Amino acid sequence: MAALRCVLASVIVAAVAMAADALGVNWGTMSTRRLPPKVVARLLADNGFRKVKIFDADERTMAGLAGTGIETMVAVPNDLLAAVADYGRAREWVKENVTKYTFDGGVNIKFVAVGNEPFLRAYNGLFDRVTVPALRNIQRALDEAGHGTKVKATVPVNADVYDSPPGDPVPSAGRFRADVAAVMAEMVRFLNRSGAPLTVNIYPFLSLYGNDDFPLDYAFFDGAGKAKPVVDGRVTYTNVFDANFDTLVSALKRVGLGHLPVMIGEVGWPTDGDKHATPALAKRFYAGLLRRLAARKGTPLRPGARIEVYLFGLIDEDAKSVAPGNFERHWGLFTFDGRPKFPLALRGGRPAMPVPARGVEYLPRRWCVLNPDAGDDAEGRVADNVGYACGRADCTALGYGCSCGGALDARGNASYAFNAYYQAQGQAESACDFQGLAVVVDEDASRGKCNFSVQVVGSEAPAATAAVAAAAAAVGTAALLLVLL
Ligand SMILES: *[C@@H]1O[C@H](CO)[C@@H](O)[C@H](O)[C@H]1NC(C)=O
Ligand SMILES: *[C@@H]1O[C@H](CO)[C@@H](O)[C@H](O)[C@H]1NC(C)=O
Ligand SMILES: *[C@@H]1O[C@H](CO)[C@@H](O)[C@H](O)[C@H]1NC(C)=O
Ligand SMILES: *[C@@H]1O[C@H](CO)[C@@H](O)[C@H](O)[C@H]1NC(C)=O
Repeated sequence: MAALRCVLASVIVAAVAMAADALGVNWGTMSTRRLPPKVVARLLADNGFRKVKIFDADERTMAGLAGTGIETMVAVPNDLLAAVADYGRAREWVKENVTKYTFDGGVNIKFVAVGNEPFLRAYNGLFDRVTVPALRNIQRALDEAGHGTKVKATVPVNADVYDSPPGDPVPSAGRFRADVAAVMAEMVRFLNRSGAPLTVNIYPFLSLYGNDDFPLDYAFFDGAGKAKPVVDGRVTYTNVFDANFDTLVSALKRVGLGHLPVMIGEVGWPTDGDKHATPALAKRFYAGLLRRLAARKGTPLRPGARIEVYLFGLIDEDAKSVAPGNFERHWGLFTFDGRPKFPLALRGGRPAMPVPARGVEYLPRRWCVLNPDAGDDAEGRVADNVGYACGRADCTALGYGCSCGGALDARGNASYAFNAYYQAQGQAESACDFQGLAVVVDEDASRGKCNFSVQVVGSEAPAATAAVAAAAAAVGTAALLLVLL
């Protein structure tokens, strides 16, 4: 009996350790003010993340990761794909962004993501011809530089590269989307030969978003008995993640590669910016996902498979494009300043509050608000200035169903917008003027769940201008739209 208990105990320990070692996270940097990379690297380590995926090979980020031993997936951004479709250029990329960091105390690079969702339907084929040549070149350059056995090139694809026919909407009927079927087949054959996994991003939240007929419970892992299951021959699917993953497995089978390893490049749940983007639902989603990964349950078509997963994402990014929706800026497990949002079982076991970032330096406790003396006759000018502020800072929390939606009156809204801009500008004095309508105060203007943030000292990131400009429009309120028009 004692021996058995011992065996059980070591099985449990092994399962817990596995949960942690298979778990990675995406570290995006589209923020108006960035936390120091060393602070972020420590946040990763403190929470037991042994793997991280970044979206470029930015020197500052790499300096943060140097010496940590954290397994890193660096990336060739989409806008460099055409360039590295030329072999000489691919070789330079590898020299500057892989070889340079390969030394004792450097960065532990394990993967190069070649592009990011290059076959997204929204790109209209823009990267279809350059992606596979870029992938081949990067792998060849890695091989020639002597990194090939350790570092593999992969391509993170969006889950819209495969589907099931409308007439047979079950995972076993999965196939690659017609317009990219040939290029996907060529790509996965190459990955099979180079010994690299395919990487796919799967978002149950997006299945739910914008589809009022989608059964809520089917988006989670505890939906059995709640949501109507999808019956596929002898298999019953009770959650969209499994169904989606197995649709890809079926598509791979169709091209003779049913066993190709697949990693999840992104999976997660946002906490603001939509009625379903809440900390409570995010907590439910991650609780189910992490429990399953720890149990190594796999999916019906790959039972028991160890699936390597990168959660999306580490911290909120207030300068991401909101073209897909306002939730885009709220994917973080942590707030922009590294505070955990909800309990998570990052190391297996029971969910617990993650460890907050240490050593974060804040700007002074000062806020920019609408001057209480501004009369109602200033309404028009206030609206213009709110439009200006929200076009350059993050106002997504103001939307319907969001953390500040309904919490504020029109004057409160204006204060929120002015403060967001002032903070994004590092509290520059000139950033709290708004034609004399704004004043700096030292009393916290937050109300309930609606947080008027104080920004971090951090370094300024180059603003993604186009991305931020889209923000005001996507807040989607008549008032703001009128201002913009
Ligand atoms: C290396 O990566 C950085 C950051 O993503 C990029 O700006 C640079 O152009 C890359 N180097 C080469 C030689 O392509
Ligand atoms: C996958 O790779 C293996 C080993 O290199 C090879 O034997 C097999 O033919 C490949 N399969 C396909 C469909 O290319
Ligand atoms: C505050 O702003 C939000 C988003 O712009 C809007 O939906 C809401 O109606 C505004 N509230 C008032 C009282 O103006
Ligand atoms: C609001 O954000 C600040 C950081 O800017 C943080 O210190 C504070 O705890 C937050 N308040 C709430 C209610 O989340």
